[in-house]
Amino acid sequence: MDYKELMSKAAKARESAYAPYSHFRVGAALVAKNGNVYLGCNIENSAYSPSVCAERVAFFKAVSEGIKEFDAIAIVGGKEGETSTLCAPCGVCRQVMTEFCDKDFKIVLGTSEKFEIHTLEELLPLAFSKDGVK
Ligand code: THU
Repeated sequence: MDYKELMSKAAKARESAYAPYSHFRVGAALVAKNGNVYLGCNIENSAYSPSVCAERVAFFKAVSEGIKEFDAIAIVGGKEGETSTLCAPCGVCRQVMTEFCDKDFKIVLGTSEKFEIHTLEELLPLAFSKDGVK
């Protein structure tokens, strides 16, 4: 997988971020096992709690189209005007990833110039998963 290119796609998705309250703009590019790439950006709301993260937008776009198997997600985010920060996914997004992804699902963080690759198991150890409720 070309992670640099995936990070570029996440950076492009970030351009659509709607973040007038936090001014923290995030883009995500999610690769499905069939090769499709789903993009997401954070979308905030004046009532605050309806706001949604870029990662979940990407996941829900894919799942709403019947796609439920994934290999990797690239995430690019930071305060408006900043390009070199590392944006780690929030706990809720990690839990959503756990619903659809294996422990070795790759999470790529940073920028297209400098990034690091983590697994889902590293970022959410001892996760509560669907096996727990079967
Ligand atoms: N946000 C994301 O979209 N993804 C993350 O991984 C962290 C946080 C959004 C939520 C909110 O719109 C803004 O960034 C500040 O928290």
